[in-house]
Amino acid sequence: MTILVTGGAGFIGSNFVLDWLADPAAEPVVNLDALTYAGNRANLASLDGDARHHFVHGDIGDRALVDQLLASHRPRAIVHFAAESHVDRSIHGPGAFMKTNVEGTFTLLEAARAYWGTLEGEAKAAFRFHHVSTDEVYGSLKPSDPPFAETHPYEPNSPYSASKAASDHLVRAWHHTYGLPVLTTNCSNNYGPYHFPEKLIPLMIVNALAGKPLPVYGDGQQIRDWLYVKDHCSGIRAVLAGGRLGETYNIGGWNEKANLDIVQTVCALLDELRPDPAGPYSRLITYVTDRPGHDRRYAIDARKIERELGWRPAETFETGIRKTVQWYLDHPDWVADVQSGAYQAWVGTHYGAR
Ligand code: NAD
Ligand code: TYD
Repeated sequence: MTILVTGGAGFIGSNFVLDWLADPAAEPVVNLDALTYAGNRANLASLDGDARHHFVHGDIGDRALVDQLLASHRPRAIVHFAAESHVDRSIHGPGAFMKTNVEGTFTLLEAARAYWGTLEGEAKAAFRFHHVSTDEVYGSLKPSDPPFAETHPYEPNSPYSASKAASDHLVRAWHHTYGLPVLTTNCSNNYGPYHFPEKLIPLMIVNALAGKPLPVYGDGQQIRDWLYVKDHCSGIRAVLAGGRLGETYNIGGWNEKANLDIVQTVCALLDELRPDPAGPYSRLITYVTDRPGHDRRYAIDARKIERELGWRPAETFETGIRKTVQWYLDHPDWVADVQSGAYQAWVGTHYGAR
């Protein structure tokens, strides 16, 4: 048996594939990824020559390709990461988000439904479509609100979160209408190795090391609930193995932090691990114009996955952020590689006018 992973060359997907195949007994992985700016084969370099990893360069919206992959590899599960994932990019250009996150998920669901219809007996009963989603579909919390439980209404505020909410609804409907055996996980903000440096934590690390400004949107008091990426991956594995069909599981690490505190923590770790003779890295903090429609606070109530599946994160924020900063210090070539080309154009477009 194999599993089909979509978006497995991106940040979370590549961590998932690497962790999955770290188990010698794991099923092989077919990894379908369009290699957008966010997809990077170098993330998977350690799997070169490993016959259990079959990489396919292609689009989830290509129905013929997805049909052919399902028919030839006959996976027992699809784990669906592929998406446009950056809120700021969704504000500049929402079209790609609708195309991949909504239409792409629709195409994948239809292909999965057709394939599942051909299965029989145990293979049919064992098949899973696991949809990887975000806490951002729930909207923004006030300071005194309880964290998002799975029953929280959907109130997406950005083109990104609206596109993910739409995909969640499609997945739900394909279960209720067609009986497709789906699972959905909604996770909080991830951080860790292979995180593309357009997102807060890696951007702050790479900018600090380059002596560039650390752009904090608005007052920097927006709150996110941070989870080390490998803990997200273990949560997905737990849900894939034991989650109840048609159910949603929120994944989070009970780590609410204000953005400014995150940036200060990154600066303090760099001061310790790679001191700058010019002075503390926090001197580079620069307040810039806020993001339009910026959600103030996200927080996850992770009690359902803890109670039903016994999942717990392995890292605290302190251990995870230290590992992350160290990883970036240890991988300057990876950073230089992803910062070449189109990345520069994005930085110019997005930060130039702020
Ligand atoms: P990412 O942007 O780093 O990676 C996305 C991957 O999908 C890339 O490899 C890209 O090439 C691929 N891709 C994009 N469009 C595609 C298409 N049409 N066909 C095939 N592949 C395509 O994203 P990420 O941060 O790894 O997020 C993965 C998933 O997890 C997304 O669905 C995202 O919504 C969700 N999620 C992310 C976070 C987070 O903090 N990053 C938190 C919760 C949920
Ligand atoms: P981001 O990493 O883009 O994730 P998301 O928007 O999906 O939560 O941003 C995390 C937080 O950091 C968010 O509140 C926006 C803020 N932020 C900045 O203050 N400066 C930046 O340069 C970036 C990229 C994000």
